[in-house]
Amino acid sequence: MSKPTDGSKPMQWLAGPAAQQAIGVIGAGTMGAGIAQVAAASGHPVRLLDLRAGAAAAAIAQTAQSLATLVDKGRLSAADRDATLARLSVCDSVAQMADAALVIEVIVENLEAKRKLLQEVEAVVAPTAVIASNTSSISITAIAGGLQQPHRVVGMHFFNPVPQMKLVEVVSGVETDATVAQAVFELARRWGKTPVHAKSTPGFIVNRIARPYYAEALALLQEQAALPATLDALARSAGFRMGPCELMDLIGHDVNYAVTQTVFDANYGDRRYMPSIVQKALLDGGRLGRKVGKGFYDGVPPTASALIEPAAIDADGESAAAAPAVPPLTLCGSSALARGLHAWMTQRGLAFTTDARTDWTGWRLGTGPTATQVHVTDGRTAMQLAAEQRCADLAVIDLPLLSDKTNAIAVAFAAGASDPARSQVRAALHACGWQAMELRDAPALWAARTICMLVNEGADAVHQGVCSEEAANLAMKLGTNWPHGPFEWLTALGVERVVAVLDHLHAFTRNERYRVSPLLQHRLWAARAAPLG
Ligand SMILES: NC(=O)c1ccc[n+]([C@@H]2O[C@H](COP(=O)([O-])OP(=O)(O)OC[C@H]3O[C@@H](n4cnc5c(N)ncnc54)[C@H](O)[C@@H]3O)[C@@H](O)[C@H]2O)c1
Repeated sequence: MSKPTDGSKPMQWLAGPAAQQAIGVIGAGTMGAGIAQVAAASGHPVRLLDLRAGAAAAAIAQTAQSLATLVDKGRLSAADRDATLARLSVCDSVAQMADAALVIEVIVENLEAKRKLLQEVEAVVAPTAVIASNTSSISITAIAGGLQQPHRVVGMHFFNPVPQMKLVEVVSGVETDATVAQAVFELARRWGKTPVHAKSTPGFIVNRIARPYYAEALALLQEQAALPATLDALARSAGFRMGPCELMDLIGHDVNYAVTQTVFDANYGDRRYMPSIVQKALLDGGRLGRKVGKGFYDGVPPTASALIEPAAIDADGESAAAAPAVPPLTLCGSSALARGLHAWMTQRGLAFTTDARTDWTGWRLGTGPTATQVHVTDGRTAMQLAAEQRCADLAVIDLPLLSDKTNAIAVAFAAGASDPARSQVRAALHACGWQAMELRDAPALWAARTICMLVNEGADAVHQGVCSEEAANLAMKLGTNWPHGPFEWLTALGVERVVAVLDHLHAFTRNERYRVSPLLQHRLWAARAAPLG
C-alpha cells in the first residue's frame, strides 16, 4: 500500500501539543506500565490495555504508589502527580485506541502475537498514526511485514526501569519511513529520554555490543583461567559498575542465555555470538541467578577486598602486610600507554628510569640480563613472550589506567618464572597501588580481551550501518552503565593496540570470533598512511 500523503505536503507524524495526542500502550506489565507513566507525565492522554483482566488498572494503581513516593520525597508536586494520574485510563479493546497518534505494543516477546495485535491496531487507527513495538529482540522488519503499512512501524526500545533509564533505541526496519523514525526520536526527547537511531538487526545496539562482556568472561571460565569473583573484581576495578558474573546473576541466566541464543541464531550461527556451555550448565542446574538465590554465587557476590589474601588484611579490612621491597624499575616503551604509566608512577612518587627504545610497553625489574620483564598485554601470552624475548622471568599484566578506581590488575606469569621474580612483579604492582590477581596464562587476560572485543563489536555495528559512533557510545553508557563507550575506548587505547590484541587472540585461539572488524582495519591503515601525507 502506498504511503498516505495529502498530495503536496509530507506527512506530519506526531506533531502538535501532547494534550492533543493520545498514546495507546498495549501490555501493562513491567515495561508497559513504565512507558504509560512516562507518556502521561509528559502531558499525553494515555490509554492502557492488557489481555489480563484487571492488569491495566493494577498497573495504574502501582504507578500511583510510585508517584506518591516521589511526592513524599519532594521530587514531584502533588498537582503534577494528580495531573499525570488523571491522564491515564484503562481500555478494554483495541477499538478504543482509534484516536491514538501513537500506539506502542509492549506485550509478550513473540512475533506472531505482536503481528496479530498490530494488524488489529492498524485496522482501527488513523493513517497518520505511528505504530511502535518495544520488542527487545524481534526484527522490526518482521513485525512490520505482517502489516498493510509497514512504513509507519518503528521500534521504540525502552530500558528497565523505564522512568529512570534514559535510553530509547529508535529502531528502523527495512520499510520504516525515515520521517516516522525521526518523529518518534523527537517525541522520546520531549519525554526526557535520550534516543538513538538504530537499524533493525539482531540485538539492535545495546544487546549486540554488550555480548562480549558476558561471552569473554564465560570463555575465560571455560578455559579455567579465573574464578567468577576474580573476574568481577577486575571488572569493577576497571570502572564497570558490576562485574560480568554478578551481572549475569542479576539479569538471570535464563534471560541472558535466551538473548545470546537469539542473536546467535539470527546471525546464522556466527561463532562470535555463540552461547556458552558454562552458562547452559548453570541453566540446566537451575542456577538461574539472584531471583532463585543461586547462580555463580550463592547469595551476595564477594567484594573485591574479600579476594585479598586474609593474611594481608588487618581487623579493619586494611592491607596490613608490610609492602614488599620494590626492585629498581625501568619503564620501557614510548607508546601513549608508556607515557600514561610515566605520569602515574611519578604521581605516586616512585623512583624509576626509562628506556624508550624497547618496542614493548611495561617494566624491567632489576638490571642486567637477569632482569624480570613485565609486559602490558598486546594479546600474546606470557609463554609466547618468554620464548620470543628469551627471558624466563616474564609476566604479562592487563591494561592499566582504565579507571581512577583501579585497585586490582590481572597478571599472568610464564611457566618458568622463578618465585623471586613473581614476588618482584607483585611488589612493583603493589607500589603502583594495584593488587595483583593472578590468572592462568590466557591471551589478553580479562580487560584487554573484553574491552577490545567490545570495541570490535561496536566497530562492526557502525561498519554495518546499525548506528553511528556517537549512538554506540551513548547507548552503551546509558543502556548498560559502562564507564565509556566503545569508540571512547578505541581512542584511549589506540587502534594499533586494539588490533594487535584481537589479532593475537585470533592467532592463539584460531577462533574466527576474534576476527578484526573491517572498520578497525581501515582505521589502522589510515593511521599508518597518515604520515605519508
Ligand atoms: N522487562 C524488560 O527488562 C524489557 C526491556 C526492554 C524490552 N522488553 C520487551 O517489552 C515487552 C514486554 O516485556 P515486559 O517485561 O513488560 O513483560 P510482562 O510480562 O511484564 O508484561 C507483558 C504484558 O502483556 C500482556 N499481554 C500479553 N499478550 C497481550 C495481548 N495480545 N494484548 C494485550 N496484552 C497482552 C500480558 O498480560 C502482560 O501483562 C517484551 O516484548 C519484552 O521483550 C522488556
